[in-house]
Parts: sequence; structure tokens; C-alpha cells
Amino acid sequence: MAKAVSVRGLTKAFGARTVLDGIDLEVQPGEFVALLGRSGCGKSTLLRILAGLDRDVEGTAEVPGTVSIAFQQPRLLPWRKVWKNISLGLHKPDGREVALKALEEVRLTGHADAWPLTLSGGEAQRVSLARALVREPDVLLLDEPFGALDALTRLAMHHLVEDLWARHKPAVLLVTHDVDEALLLADRILVLDEGRIVATHHVDLPRPRRRASVVEQRTRVLADLGVDVEEAA
Ligand SMILES: Nc1ncnc2c1ncn2[C@@H]1O[C@H](COP(=O)(O)OP(=O)(O)OP(=O)(O)O)[C@@H](O)[C@H]1O
Ligand SMILES: [Mg+2]
Repeated sequence: MAKAVSVRGLTKAFGARTVLDGIDLEVQPGEFVALLGRSGCGKSTLLRILAGLDRDVEGTAEVPGTVSIAFQQPRLLPWRKVWKNISLGLHKPDGREVALKALEEVRLTGHADAWPLTLSGGEAQRVSLARALVREPDVLLLDEPFGALDALTRLAMHHLVEDLWARHKPAVLLVTHDVDEALLLADRILVLDEGRIVATHHVDLPRPRRRASVVEQRTRVLADLGVDVEEAA
């Protein structure tokens, strides 16, 4: 079967600084991959390249299917109503219908005619997710989509993303700083450091997962991120 993402020897430099250094990565259709790594290690750069937003690279990054990206900031257009933000650029005659359905999926029915600035952070983030979903992507790129949310909203978003993923089965590449989030959601966790993938963890736990079930593996992932759990406790 064709890969959802196929990256070979991907190298990206900004001036003299090499940010991605010979990345090899394959993602299967429907696979959920989490990308962890310290700030500045090149996670967003990799996602931007996969989304086709940066083509000035060495090596290859192939994403044969359709791809959507949800950024850390929702990036909604304030002068367009919520539903318009979602359907913008779709070029479908039934854009409003499509947007309403996506809003229902992210549990925001009733907000279609709201202005983006009247939304809470979590609501705006869900609109951003709806906007990514209406494109029915084969590959969904999520760049720290829950970073700015409070713990309870985050939890709700985890359930939502898991649910949407189970129903639509896109391949997902989720950038996060939250090891538990990665363990709860992903099939595979990659740790990026100085532009290279330095560790891979397969998460074989059944879904839905609970926090208690990921505790053991958390220690090993944290160790790869340079965190000694005993010391930090
Ligand atoms: N357009 C650019 N021009 C120059 N340097 C850039 C550019 N975009 C990113 N960089 C640099 O590349 C490095 C990697 O950036 P990137 O945004 O990919 O990091 P990140 O892993 O997503 O970090 P964070 O977790 O903080 O979001 C950083 O040092 C950043 O300053
Ligand atoms: Mg980033």
C-alpha cells in the first residue's frame, strides 16, 4: 500500500543553520504519529514542509494524498463568520452545509454565525480543527493544537481528536510537548533532537487509553527527552 508520508534524507537549512538533518520517515495510511522534541528542534519546520508550505529543501518529502494542517494558533479570519472560515477555499456550492456538518463533528453546532473574536480559545481551536477536517485529508498535520488550552479542555480535545481519527482514519502527525498526550493518542512516538529522529517508541496499548495505563512507558519517553523522572519528582 502507498505510504501516507514518505520522507527521505530531508535536510533543511536556514542560512548556515541546519534545522532538519537527513530525516527519514514513513507514515502508513491511518497511522497516528506523535512528534516530540524540545523547542526549536524543527518540528514545525517539518510539518510546514509536509504541508507543502516550504519547498526549499534537500531530499524528498512525498505526501501523495490530500493534506490539512492545523496550526498552534487557530489563525481564523476575524472578518469572516465561523462557517465561512471553515468553507473558505473549498470551492463547493454547498459550503455552508459542509461547514455546519464539520461544526457538528467538533461539537460546535450553533456557532456557525458567530464571529471568531467572540469564541473562547478552545472553541477557536475546534473551528481550526473543523477547517482542517472539511478537506477530508488523507494526512492531518496538527502543530501543538492544544498547547494553549486548560487541562479540562485539553482532555475534551483528546477525546474529540481520537473520535474524529477513528471515524475518518487520516494519517495524523501530531506535534506536542505533552508526553502523556502522545502516549494517549499515538501509535508511534518520534523524538526529534537537533534535526534528527533520535528515538522511536511504539505504543501498543489498546484504546481508549487511560492515564494509568501509560505511566510505565512515560518514564522511557521522558528519558529520551533528557528528563530523569526520579530527579524531577
Ligand atoms: N523562516 C525562518 N528563518 C530562519 N530561521 C527559522 C525560520 N523558521 C524556523 N527557523 C528556525 O528553525 C529552528 C526550528 O524551528 P521550528 O519552528 O521548526 O521549531 P519547533 O521544534 O517547532 O519549536 P517549538 O516547539 O518552539 O514550536 C528554530 O531555531 C527557528 O528559529
Ligand atoms: Mg513549533
